Amino acid sequence: MKNLAQTLASLQSARLARLDAQLLLLHVLGQPLHQRGWLLAHDTDLLPPELATHLTLLAQRRLSGEPLAYITGHKEFFGLDLQVDARVLVPRPDTETLVTWALELLPGQPAKNTDQGQPPCVLDLGTGSGAIALALKASSPELQVHAIDFSLDALAVAKANAQRLQLDVAFSQSAWLKGLADSSTKFDCIVSNPPYIAALDPHLAALTHEPLQALASGTDGLDDIRQIVSQAPAHLKPGGWLLLEHGFDQAQAVRGLLYAAGFAQIQSRRDLAGIERCSGGQFTHTPEHQPTTALKVMQTQFQTDPTQDPSRLETRLTELEIKASFAEDLIDKLDQIVTRQQDQIDHLTREVHFLRQQTPDEGPVPPRNLRDELPPHY
Ligand SMILES: C[S@@+](CC[C@H](N)C(=O)[O-])C[C@H]1O[C@@H](n2cnc3c(N)ncnc32)[C@H](O)[C@@H]1O
Repeated sequence: MKNLAQTLASLQSARLARLDAQLLLLHVLGQPLHQRGWLLAHDTDLLPPELATHLTLLAQRRLSGEPLAYITGHKEFFGLDLQVDARVLVPRPDTETLVTWALELLPGQPAKNTDQGQPPCVLDLGTGSGAIALALKASSPELQVHAIDFSLDALAVAKANAQRLQLDVAFSQSAWLKGLADSSTKFDCIVSNPPYIAALDPHLAALTHEPLQALASGTDGLDDIRQIVSQAPAHLKPGGWLLLEHGFDQAQAVRGLLYAAGFAQIQSRRDLAGIERCSGGQFTHTPEHQPTTALKVMQTQFQTDPTQDPSRLETRLTELEIKASFAEDLIDKLDQIVTRQQDQIDHLTREVHFLRQQTPDEGPVPPRNLRDELPPHY
């Protein structure tokens, strides 16, 4: 029989990561997973043979790539202990960025701008384990929280979590917003962490244990986001926000989709790793969404030309506006590069000046500013 320290050492020599080994050992011992210190205090305790056999089986599952959360059945998200299994995606820490952003936008108490003192109303689309909806409700109990998923299996997991945590969330099955009548509740905020991996992305092959419908979304990974962006305005209150999580390289494309759908205040938020992970915008129903001056001018010009179809102008203008917004982003990035290079040139200029001063034999040489020697486009 091995003691706990010896058991951990042999799991690690079988190539299991130290943290995984500690968490699996705590799990088979029935100890809370956050109490890794407990293992140190009990490192000479003996592990009973039946628990050792169980632990070996769990370690093999982990070594074959199964997420730790499916093996232990638990995942912590925004301070909540959620039960998870292979019917739902394991909630990621990155998604906490979306929750924090929604909480900043949604006042906890009925606010002056809410309808007849009604509490703010939020909808989580593609709720999975219920992570986002439950975190919002736990953090701000005054919110009315609704959650949708297309998968009945996922809804069963989410409802069980809500019941265990005693959080009141209204769950329903729908394919994004199609199942909701246009006349139904309007939301102050719609949040979603939808599937966003491109169908042929090589990373998808490694995620064999998680449900594919929670991960993949068409050839560019944006099919579901496109649907949500186009359906959301009909279900938002004036001034309501749509916040979306997306892939590490999709922020610009998602901002473009929001822009084309008439959202304002479009912005992105970075996750803990500094990656633009969520993008969102506000649906204002204000004159910003009326035809722009540019469009009006184009329409007036084309009304006099019977060969032109004025209804196609708006689409064309939107395309041009998206391209313009991409071009602006590109210019920003180029500006940053130029600024960095100019800083480097200034630094080198100072260094050249200093070195020249250190060479008295050559006599005084006027300082050279290397910036003056740059090609004109700098
Ligand atoms: C990436 S998972 C997110 C789960 C959870 N919100 C989270 O952050 O951990 C996406 C979820 O969207 C659901 N989903 C996929 N297509 C859907 C659709 N057309 N309508 C509604 N939900 C859908 C999946 O079942 C899955 O639970």
